[in-house]
Amino acid sequence: MKIFLDTADIGLIKRYNDMGLVDGITTNPSLLAKAGGNPADAMAEISDVIKGDVSLEVVATDSDAMVEEGRRLRRYGDNVVVKVPMTPDGLAACRRLSSEGIPVNVTLIFSTNQAILAAKAGARYVSPFIGRIDDTGHDGMQLIEDLVGIFQNYGFETQVLVASVRHPVHVKEAALLGADVVTLPPAVLEKMLHHPLTKIGLDNFLADWAKLTGQGSSYSSSSS
Ligand code: G3P
Repeated sequence: MKIFLDTADIGLIKRYNDMGLVDGITTNPSLLAKAGGNPADAMAEISDVIKGDVSLEVVATDSDAMVEEGRRLRRYGDNVVVKVPMTPDGLAACRRLSSEGIPVNVTLIFSTNQAILAAKAGARYVSPFIGRIDDTGHDGMQLIEDLVGIFQNYGFETQVLVASVRHPVHVKEAALLGADVVTLPPAVLEKMLHHPLTKIGLDNFLADWAKLTGQGSSYSSSSS
């Protein structure tokens, strides 16, 4: 399973990329707004730093304008995937961009049928928003299970990119179901790094070493 980061925060992207954890990035207008600064600069830097796929989202709403915007976004790098919304215009743009060799991520997917249609339109990724489905009292992960099975049934090359992930249990469940990609808010990835027994175990090792040698260690597990 690939791990993407769902953020436009370049500092955090570099932190986790340095650990070798970032297979790609997803952004959207809300995440660029949250990161602040000039969005064009942010998109250029992210596309440069990350070698894997970087999804950059169009803000145009009609298909001609989406295609034009998608071609412009693609100039940030050969790793740019154009993100379009799950609308009739979005699917028309998906078909045209894909046929030009520009990969597309269809976002704001909330149903099995929407994902099937996006795959038929040539999407490289479909992005079901599981956390937002959970918020409505329905089971977002059921959609992932359905899509993994359906795409396998028909040999679709479109990848299931699990989005709107809210906590580490979502990640484990997505992995058990065989989802292709999860895109994680940095806070979720940070939680996945830690376990209380790891910290206790390391504190004990360091304390025992200090007792044995009379020397402390420069490493502090409380900083992790
Ligand atoms: O990748 C989609 C994501 O950014 C939306 O997440 O938590 O706002 O539903 P959320």
